[in-house]
Amino acid sequence: MAEPVVAQKSPYGVEVEAGKTYWWCACGQSKRQPFCDGSHKTTGFTPVEYKAEASRTVWFCGCKHTNKAPLCDGTHNSLA
Ligand code: FES
Ligand code: FES
Repeated sequence: MAEPVVAQKSPYGVEVEAGKTYWWCACGQSKRQPFCDGSHKTTGFTPVEYKAEASRTVWFCGCKHTNKAPLCDGTHNSLA
């Protein structure tokens, strides 16, 4: 599988709503970052589901190289 595209080298802070489901873009090609817009179709990637348990700010990975998808785990700091 090809490498994901780095959408940005920092997380996206998003105010999520309790009870709502979000689909994080894993391929990096969505035009609606950090969420999936269907652009992954030819990439071999599929979006990752995130269910908000509380209403708060969540930091979604923008570099797409996190090991804790869909959330930022700091890996963006070690990207070339
Ligand atoms: Fe990237 Fe859907 S557009 S996973
Ligand atoms: Fe990807 Fe932080 S933005 S790990």
